[in-house]
Amino acid sequence: MKWESNDGVEYAVSFDYRQPNMHDISQKLHKAFVLVCENRRDDGRESCGVTEPGLRAAIKEAMKTAGLPVRVLSTSCMDHCKEGPTVAFMPMDAMFGDVHIDDIPELVTKMRKYLSS
Ligand code: FES
Repeated sequence: MKWESNDGVEYAVSFDYRQPNMHDISQKLHKAFVLVCENRRDDGRESCGVTEPGLRAAIKEAMKTAGLPVRVLSTSCMDHCKEGPTVAFMPMDAMFGDVHIDDIPELVTKMRKYLSS
């Protein structure tokens, strides 16, 4: 089975996430997902979890305080280590690099705009 992403590229997947029952469940719980790379490399190479520890927890708290219906999840490497710490909004397909604790109010504002558009 195939589906087409927002970038126009077709990907082969083993299931259709748009299948009504699965889609309905996610829409009831969360309007969007915030993926926060917490990959840690202890061998000296750059990695988001080493650069800004505690970022995911701080984003989660800020989104909750703002009352935004999003789920904040930890991920491993998203292949933007040199621009990290890396954060992504899904399904908006928005990605942010060099994110630090001070940037969280801006992330909340951006998420609020995405959800209201
Ligand atoms: S370690 Fe975070 S994007 Fe690679």
